[in-house]
Amino acid sequence: MKYQVVRNKKYDYVGQSYASLYPNLHKYPATMLPQIGVDILKEFNVVKGTLLDPYCGSGSSFASGLEYGISEMYGFDINPLAVLISKVKFTRIDLNRLNETYLNFRNSLFEFLKDENNIKTLSHPRITNIEYWFSKDVIDALTLIKYFIDGIKDTDVKNFFLIPFSETVRECSYTRNNEFKLFRMKPEDLLNFNPEALSFYFKKLNDVLSLYSHFYFPKLGYNVKVDVQYSQFQPRNERFDAVLTSPPYGDSRTTVAYGQFSALSNEWLGIDYARKIDGMLMGGTKQNQNIRNGIIGDYISQINKSDAKRALEVSAFYTDLQNSIAKVADRVRKGGKSIYVVGNRTVKNIQLPTDQFIAEKFEENNFKHLITYERALSNKAMPSKNSPANETGKTVNTMLFEYIVICEKI
Ligand SMILES: C[S@@+](CC[C@H](N)C(=O)[O-])C[C@H]1O[C@@H](n2cnc3c(N)ncnc32)[C@H](O)[C@@H]1O
Repeated sequence: MKYQVVRNKKYDYVGQSYASLYPNLHKYPATMLPQIGVDILKEFNVVKGTLLDPYCGSGSSFASGLEYGISEMYGFDINPLAVLISKVKFTRIDLNRLNETYLNFRNSLFEFLKDENNIKTLSHPRITNIEYWFSKDVIDALTLIKYFIDGIKDTDVKNFFLIPFSETVRECSYTRNNEFKLFRMKPEDLLNFNPEALSFYFKKLNDVLSLYSHFYFPKLGYNVKVDVQYSQFQPRNERFDAVLTSPPYGDSRTTVAYGQFSALSNEWLGIDYARKIDGMLMGGTKQNQNIRNGIIGDYISQINKSDAKRALEVSAFYTDLQNSIAKVADRVRKGGKSIYVVGNRTVKNIQLPTDQFIAEKFEENNFKHLITYERALSNKAMPSKNSPANETGKTVNTMLFEYIVICEKI
């Protein structure tokens, strides 16, 4: 192994969940434990200046940054649902304004409902196979809620009301709840599934209001600025003191399907390309050449021996990651740190050394690799054993560990 990896049990957080430091406002796949970020920022004494997360998802790196004392943060993500969640969690919204809107929203919605004919005047949104995913009653309730949310003028407040809406879309749809991929429930489960979308929404809205008021709002001082863009990382004028991120560990089609997880919500939010998002994420664009050099080259040529198509797909992912690292590295100040938390996935029985790849690419872009920590992924206590060697072709039980790759700009 070229770049040093040290097993560090401190970062296992046995028995702790995401919510033990930060309560969730909305589910999201493959979230990073905010505890990791807080402790790494402390351990490496990162300057409390500006922080970037080029793959911010639902924003756990902002939770870490805020807890550590950084108040200026920038995030990017291609998934509109992710951007919505991050924005709502880290935007300061006046609580009186939220409560007033809540009362108006509730009163006007129930007033509207008094006349049964009113609901028939609302047109349904364009959702792919809507009746395959939702019952007639749920479609009516969601249409009604969305109509009243659309009437909210203030964008921040409107976004806030969309969070429980998106949760209602997911929970009241026929999707299987324990899956990230879009699968319909089994027929026998459908028979007993009759959710009350309107009461579900108000319950969620109350929960989100309470969590936000008691937990997030008090942390969001007037000086806190979290700027989240719906796009790939776009270098602008800012220079960053730290990059803290958990990038995807493979393309979205064959690893975590962020797009599928978010598809129904994104469609109800009005995103017309909601079904295409997985293809737009890292590694989603096809390539016609394999990477041959560097740490990953040998691994890709191994995969190529048994599956040429798979090798090209894997190459596409690492090419995107490489290009992204070059852009990110360029915007970090001298002495600034980059912290990437990543898993090493297995393809065709070959475990890919993504942690080593990341260290290599940062070193090619004026960084020095400081250390990589290996942490156990499961919350359960794990038998202490050494990291599986990243030897080409070695079959290992994959993704039991995660890697925290720390580099410094020179
Ligand atoms: C592991 S998740 C990040 C999770 C985040 N740390 C959290 O706690 O929610 C990776 C994220 O990268 C996003 N993503 C994938 N490709 C991207 C790209 N090219 N540019 C920006 N974001 C991308 C996905 O939409 C996903 O939200």
